[in-house]
Amino acid sequence: MTAPSPLHVAVAGDHPYSITIGPGQLSDGHALAQHVRGRHVLLVSDSDVAPLYLAGVRAALMQARPDLLVAEHVLPAGEASKTLAEFGRAIDALAALGATRDACIFALGGGVVGDLSGFAAACWMRGVDCVQLPTTLLAMVDSSVGGKTAVDIPAGKNLVGAFHPPRAVIADTHVLATLPVRELRAGLAEVVKYGALGDPDFFDWLQQHADGLSAGDATLLAEAIARSCRHKAAIVERDPLEKGERALLNLGHTFGHAIETEQGYSAPGRDALNHGEAVAVGMVLAARLSTAMGRAPAADEQRLSALLTSLNLPTAIPTGLQPAALLARMRLDKKNVAGRLRLVLWRGIGQADVVADVEEAAVLAVLAG
Ligand code: NAD
Ligand code: GLY
Repeated sequence: MTAPSPLHVAVAGDHPYSITIGPGQLSDGHALAQHVRGRHVLLVSDSDVAPLYLAGVRAALMQARPDLLVAEHVLPAGEASKTLAEFGRAIDALAALGATRDACIFALGGGVVGDLSGFAAACWMRGVDCVQLPTTLLAMVDSSVGGKTAVDIPAGKNLVGAFHPPRAVIADTHVLATLPVRELRAGLAEVVKYGALGDPDFFDWLQQHADGLSAGDATLLAEAIARSCRHKAAIVERDPLEKGERALLNLGHTFGHAIETEQGYSAPGRDALNHGEAVAVGMVLAARLSTAMGRAPAADEQRLSALLTSLNLPTAIPTGLQPAALLARMRLDKKNVAGRLRLVLWRGIGQADVVADVEEAAVLAVLAG
């Protein structure tokens, strides 16, 4: 049986690039090597992904382009590695390689590897190419697309970074087979986000296929990835630098980032949430706040909670996090203006908007449950 043909999504704009989605893409050396302009390649990955896929990517690249000078750089897996210190180590790896301005970084991993590698690519010699090779569902549907790159600092998530569009995104759906189920579901939270913020039909489709998606059905996942990428591509083409509508992609993120920061970017455990899980809780809180402010029907908040629950995602703040502390974290969100909270809220499924001057008392009431 032949493998299904890959799906392609084009991202237009000043720096156009393609997103390729399909099984086996990481073994296609020519597909990878066509994006390398010079001779220097840095393969960045993490300690969970590298043992599974790094050697294969290197071999495929070298077979297609034996002249390449390839180095590897592996970070400890997890959000705790998305730091200025790890960023510095990636920069040192580029220096050790002698990477020139036509160098290319391949970011092989989830959003942590993708965000950090993209930021290193944005900064090395004021900008070299980065090809995103996302290996989590979350990275395939969100973080690899759109050129947001960053690291975290103790004061907050993604507070240091740059916009630096990738040269290409290549998503090999085969790798989802090794992704822990909890990470698969975390990616589904970002998939739900696209339906919740702007596509009621997609939301309905996700409701119908929740069981298959959460069980990892490859055909359903490929469709969900392609539909999500089309949504994201359309928004970032119109607003690459988040001057307006791109902020809608942050539905649930101001609450979610506050949870992640308050947890101290600790490894996800029984109580600590990973990024996608925090976004799931954040979307429910944003919906609840919208209902409390009289902007949206309570029934839509219930439908959102029910869909997330059916995908085995959390919908409540983990115990032990204090509402006032979470609110303090939210005050440092990048969307805020003049010290006032600016949040993505909704008018119901498929109708999100950015709301300025949100009263802190209303937010605190929602955080306090
Ligand atoms: P992650 O990168 O930490 O990956 C999750 C875990 O899965 C890691 O332990 C990783 O090693 C492992 N893993 C990855 N692929 C695997 C595979 N195929 N098989 C086995 N294990 C695998 O987490 P994530 O959820 O991918 O990304 C979260 C990050 O993405 C956060 O830092 C978030 O801020 C960022 N993000 C960025 C954007 C953006 O636009 N730049 C958008 C959304 C999220
Ligand atoms: N994940 C939010 C954005 O890319 O804008």
